Amino acid sequence: MQKYSMQFDKIHNRIGTNSDKWDSLQSLYGLSPNEAIPMWVADMDFEAPEAVTNCIREMAEQGIYGYAREDDTYRQAIVSWMQRRHQWQIQPDTVLSVHGIVNAIALAIQAYTQPGDGIIIFSPVYHAFSRVIKASQRSLVESPLVKDSIGKYKMDLDATANLLTGNEKMLILCSPHNPGGRVWSVQELEQVAEFAERHNLLIVSDEIHHDLVYDGYIHTPFEKAVPSARPYLMTLTSTTKTFNIAGMHTGNVIISDEKRREKFKKTLQALAISPSSFGVAMTSAAYNGGDEWLDQLLIYLAQNYELFNRRIHQINGLISMPLESTYLCWVDYRSLNMSLSQYKQKIESQSKVAASYGDAFGTGGEGHLRFNIAMPRQLLDSALDRVQTAFESV
Ligand SMILES: Cc1ncc(COP(=O)(O)O)c(C=O)c1O
Repeated sequence: MQKYSMQFDKIHNRIGTNSDKWDSLQSLYGLSPNEAIPMWVADMDFEAPEAVTNCIREMAEQGIYGYAREDDTYRQAIVSWMQRRHQWQIQPDTVLSVHGIVNAIALAIQAYTQPGDGIIIFSPVYHAFSRVIKASQRSLVESPLVKDSIGKYKMDLDATANLLTGNEKMLILCSPHNPGGRVWSVQELEQVAEFAERHNLLIVSDEIHHDLVYDGYIHTPFEKAVPSARPYLMTLTSTTKTFNIAGMHTGNVIISDEKRREKFKKTLQALAISPSSFGVAMTSAAYNGGDEWLDQLLIYLAQNYELFNRRIHQINGLISMPLESTYLCWVDYRSLNMSLSQYKQKIESQSKVAASYGDAFGTGGEGHLRFNIAMPRQLLDSALDRVQTAFESV
């Protein structure tokens, strides 16, 4: 226990390691990495589990980096993780390896839709969804989420239905939700399934954040919540957010329906996607040896969230959405009537804290900021001091 919290407390110098989070601060925010604290892109300033590092070390010791297969160890590691952590039983041959979850979404769009087809997302949502949809020349259908009485997002499927033109083929769901941190209930998933079936839509359930769920909430994999949705469902999961290994760019695509899976495999062939040796090995190592690390990470992140939430609520005009999952906190500053450029000039330039701008997450994201709190507590505390001082001096 002690071992992991000390590990998470350790401040690492990532500057000059080609870390996007740290080394892009100057180009993206105009902030010097030596002075700024990055709270934007979703990677954590923590070392990955020892099991993963040992696996890389073993590969390096052998020094041969040839082609790899999606072997039984890899598939079995995924099957057993889903069973152990999510009580979700999947068959090994339903799992396919791709180069990350955004890659999986792009491949799904190619496999199952045509240029001009409509694809539905619930905004604000992880910005790569709209980016890939638009870049693939599909038509983006953004259905805004609404806030309930306690400020949490929920879907408004009646409003979604009103947006449809009859040309829609796919619905991409972020489950759990980034940036709102919602863990969708079984009932909400059933409603999405019913909606998709009624409108003949394929559901792409992006469950990359499924392991990062806090006490009191349970993530239910879509397929487990609604087994009857299998014919029109694909699920995307990954070790990358859970174990902080996003740079290895490997994701798992799970498609139970055989015909649909065959279609996806053809697209993998057409676009020449084959497994990465690092991805396959690191995925197996993380799933087989990362349980205890993850349990401790969740405790550490929950304490970080408790600190973040308490401090943000001390700042007049800021409202932080209650966090059920992810290490990404969504803060509403609309009551301050401050434009994004005023925020940049008055708050960001003074605090030198780089958060993600809500606008990037689509309709409904304006006037919000997303803060990544997966960092050593001491660093988080000093980021919060700076944010507080900057807001209070406006
Ligand atoms: C919902 C969601 N999907 C996908 C990704 C990125 O996945 P990958 O790096 O595997 O492409 C992220 C990264 O933050 C995310 O939040």
